Amino acid sequence: MFGGKGGLGKTTFSAAMGYWLAKQGHRVLVFSVDPQASLSDIFQQNIFGVGPVKIMDNLWAQEIDADQRVKAYQEEIRQKIRDMYGFDKLPEEIESYIQAASAEPAMEESAIFDAVVDIMVAREYDYYIYDLVPLGHALYYLSMATVYDAWIDKITALRVQMREYDQVAAHLKKDAALDEDAILKELLYIRDRIHASSRILTDREHTAFFFVLVPEEMIILDTQKAAELFKRFKVPLAGYVVNRVLPEELKAPGLPEHFRRRLEMQGQHLEEINRLFGDQVLGQVPELERDITGLTMIARVAQYLCE
Ligand SMILES: Nc1ncnc2c1ncn2[C@@H]1O[C@H](COP(=O)(O)OP(=O)(O)OP(=O)(O)O)[C@@H](O)[C@H]1O
Ligand SMILES: [Mg+2]
Repeated sequence: MFGGKGGLGKTTFSAAMGYWLAKQGHRVLVFSVDPQASLSDIFQQNIFGVGPVKIMDNLWAQEIDADQRVKAYQEEIRQKIRDMYGFDKLPEEIESYIQAASAEPAMEESAIFDAVVDIMVAREYDYYIYDLVPLGHALYYLSMATVYDAWIDKITALRVQMREYDQVAAHLKKDAALDEDAILKELLYIRDRIHASSRILTDREHTAFFFVLVPEEMIILDTQKAAELFKRFKVPLAGYVVNRVLPEELKAPGLPEHFRRRLEMQGQHLEEINRLFGDQVLGQVPELERDITGLTMIARVAQYLCE
């Protein structure tokens, strides 16, 4: 997983690491839930909302379209209610409830979360690279696993209890044996998926979270704060990568004052980064002479990032 503040290089590094691993012969999926469709930009193809798209040998990219997922999710809920209760058509109140619920941000988030779980539990690739949305939001997604986990355990326990009462009632009334509890089955299914995905997200052996930062004062401060929060969610922090480091060879005689100052400032910030994060700083990627789009540029970043 690549995380960090907005615009520092998460998508760039995700693409570069995906490229490098694919070149080593691993099957790789780079994916994001970002509505900005940045993977489409960097790989220069339309990827948004169309499932995994093959970029080159061993490398696929996928961008989840949250709106589309919410619609599919609503339809799934309708279908489940129809099946469970044997309705041909949903009662008006239920339909309007579903409509209202879809306006909730939580609906979008849980649809996205669900899509990410789908991707992770399918185990079709050797490596999954999760190009995260900017920090605050990413933290929210990661915390969802923990929150859902606790919530679903409670609901499941309640349902088990209710079922016992139902059975006693059925026995007293000498009703036929109850059908298998469809709701409980559904809850257990959701619970297993959430457990599986939060296990993956916090598994130090298989998951690594990389912070992307640049040598600037505010970014260093924000990264430090965010790192504290990520620790609380047991995100397995692998280390920090510093992006957009101005190349030393710029320091030629006759360099305009403006650039001389910038290089000097950057030097101080790099020292600060090393002082704060020490051996958790895994590497530096220089600022290249143009934006990173297309496989040739991605390959250059990959060389700095992974070799
Ligand atoms: N080392 C670099 N040299 C030159 N340009 C770079 C470098 N790293 C990133 N960029 C450029 O900076 C911009 C932002 O990078 P990127 O999209 O990877 O950031 P991000 O962290 O994914 O942003 P967001 O938070 O919006 O998702 C892009 O235009 C990218 O091409
Ligand atoms: Mg991005």
